[in-house]
Amino acid sequence: MSEATTPIEVNPLREALPRTRVPEPCTIVLFGATGDLAHRKLVPALFRLAQGGNLPSECAIVGFARRDWTDEALRAEYHKSLAREVGGPDFDELWAQFASRLFFASGTFDDPQAYFKLRQTLEALDRSHGTRGNRVFYLAVAPEFFATIINHLGGADLIYPWQEEHPWSRVVIEKPFGHDLESARALNLEVSHVLDESQVYRIDHYLGKETVQNILALRFGNTIFEPLWDRRYVHSVQVTVAEEVGMAGGRGAYYDTAGTIRDMVQNHMMQLLSLVAMEPPVDLSADAVRNEKVKVLQALPRWTPEDVDRNVVRAQYTAGSIHGAEVPGYRDEKGVAPDSRTDSYVAIRLELNNWRWAGVPFFLRTGKRLPKRATEIALQFRRPPTELFDPESDGQPGTNQLVLRIQPNEGASLSFEAKIPGSRRRLQEVRMDFRYGTAFAVPPPEAYERLLLDVMLGDQSLFTRTDEVQSAWRFITSILDAWNRPGAPAPVEYPAGSWGPHEADALITRDGGRWRRL
Ligand code: BG6
Repeated sequence: MSEATTPIEVNPLREALPRTRVPEPCTIVLFGATGDLAHRKLVPALFRLAQGGNLPSECAIVGFARRDWTDEALRAEYHKSLAREVGGPDFDELWAQFASRLFFASGTFDDPQAYFKLRQTLEALDRSHGTRGNRVFYLAVAPEFFATIINHLGGADLIYPWQEEHPWSRVVIEKPFGHDLESARALNLEVSHVLDESQVYRIDHYLGKETVQNILALRFGNTIFEPLWDRRYVHSVQVTVAEEVGMAGGRGAYYDTAGTIRDMVQNHMMQLLSLVAMEPPVDLSADAVRNEKVKVLQALPRWTPEDVDRNVVRAQYTAGSIHGAEVPGYRDEKGVAPDSRTDSYVAIRLELNNWRWAGVPFFLRTGKRLPKRATEIALQFRRPPTELFDPESDGQPGTNQLVLRIQPNEGASLSFEAKIPGSRRRLQEVRMDFRYGTAFAVPPPEAYERLLLDVMLGDQSLFTRTDEVQSAWRFITSILDAWNRPGAPAPVEYPAGSWGPHEADALITRDGGRWRRL
């Protein structure tokens, strides 16, 4: 069926959104300050916050890492990465101011003395930079160091009692939070010996994306969608996170221990699923939102290994080409074992066991080396109960679809049937389209920018809570256990540059649907 596009008229915002959220004075300590995440994401995000006037003027940033750097060396390194990542006409002017807030503390993560020294540095900064004892500790380090660092922070009295409002200390924990249910529980337990849940900020950068936050705005800031948002009207839901990238940047060794199921599904896809399926929260406070999200995760199925075989496809890419460039197969990537069974693609068919969604299939797919980068959520609505118009049905569930485009071309579109002009009663699919780029004059902030600001403001809404993490792991661990059992089916294959294996198509055609073509 052919398609036509009908743009919706929107009111463009003519002025940049007001930036009024300035946090209290504080020091941000970056553990892993010399690493890739700090260079590519965290420091640029802090710089952009400074550019936008969202960093308090009494603020210091302390990089903590093993290397024997000085403040000057750290500044020179960050200058290079900021010039590359951010730049802009006001760069030099802002840099001078930003650089005066940067400091380096050298130490190994398991050396108690390093933390006492760090405390002295922070106390000196409180005096020289007016940071008033407030601290954010950001753990941008390998997961095996999370517990060590948190324990040492506690040991050096760098964590304040949480009951006291001022000064405050908050700890940001990067992913992966555990590698299965048991390790996530053990880590949560260790964390809880030192920190109260109100001091813990577990990052899932998808929650920092403007379009991901807009899922709640679209659902609960309008009345026109929500009445249709359940088993009576929704035929099925597809969540796609497609990536072109393979194992670039030397990620092969890490990835081969994690796989897509841990790297993407346990966190980002479970979050997208929760937001699209949750009940309305009573308000937008962190706990109200997280209470509803966790209920979705608790409604995930309890699968036997045979259920996993029937409902989950795991696959690896073989050599192929993307945009005309030849790329190697997964097992030939640097750092990947030649006989690896790790998944670079996962597709899942699941049903949520709750009142709103019982019987509605949710199809999730994500993979590396797919033809393009695209993240979207599509709600497929049911066909009308009777066919009044000339049937076009090809056995598919109908054309009413609401698609939330998370990235790129951020926006949403609604497709429906319209009568083709003329004497016949024939219909054609048309589409109303909303694009962020057109509707809002300002580009959305980077996910890390928003998340770092929220940590400084003490807003945990966009961070995952213990029970959320554990509920997601419970489901994922049942899949991992099935895959790891003796005699489990081996991963299937798909050529790099294709939309995944045939087995994933079979997963969805069972329900009379097909994967959307993106
Ligand atoms: C990360 C994963 O969390 O998310 C990567 O570790 C993945 O493997 C990345 O490429 C995708 O993030 P984004 O923001 O580019 O969609």
